[in-house]
Amino acid sequence: MRTLLTPEQLDSGIVRLADAVRADVGRRPLLVVGVLTGSIVVVADLIRRLDGPICVGMVWASSYRGTATRPGELDLRLDLLPDIAGQEVLLVDDIFDSGRTLEALVTELDRRGAARVHSLVLLRKLRRAEVAMEPEYVGFDIPDEFVVGYGLDFNGEFRHLPYLAALDPDDIAAIRRAPSNVAYHRQFDPAGGPRS
Ligand code: IMP
Ligand code: MG
Repeated sequence: MRTLLTPEQLDSGIVRLADAVRADVGRRPLLVVGVLTGSIVVVADLIRRLDGPICVGMVWASSYRGTATRPGELDLRLDLLPDIAGQEVLLVDDIFDSGRTLEALVTELDRRGAARVHSLVLLRKLRRAEVAMEPEYVGFDIPDEFVVGYGLDFNGEFRHLPYLAALDPDDIAAIRRAPSNVAYHRQFDPAGGPRS
């Protein structure tokens, strides 16, 4: 694993993002909508920097299955979200990769009658996106590598790392071979383990 962004760099990225959002939105109330599960750390840090009136909601999206490192079929669940009609929404995700997750969610939030939908990602991978939209706010552009930490996982693990690290092909092969933390816990709790 190679460290790409230190906790200090991540923290200054969050401050930069929060300042940029408030510079545009002013003191208007904002509904921050995080995309579970990867955005939990970004949302937690960002909302504490976003001065002004804020509510927080969560939706769930997943495009990975197990140990794959390229997106598969997109699965969205918005049933945790309260009525957003007429609200100014800030959709927050960890990373913009193909862009399909963010595009699908912006479309759905618009359809549900949000007054305005802004989109923010901590990270954007430098590769050709598969959608026409770009996120409005981007913390960091990173190389097209699989990354973990600061909320992002590989097969359910590493979300808790306080830094962002790239997994090299050797790391990925070793993790695929090793009995995982998650598999270990499943032995004792067959219903446990990650779902996104
Ligand atoms: P997209 O729909 O291809 O843009 O994928 C976005 C989602 O895929 C993000 O919300 C992440 O959950 C996940 N993702 C994409 N790239 C990575 C990565 O490098 N590490 C971990 N998760 C990733
Ligand atoms: Mg995600």
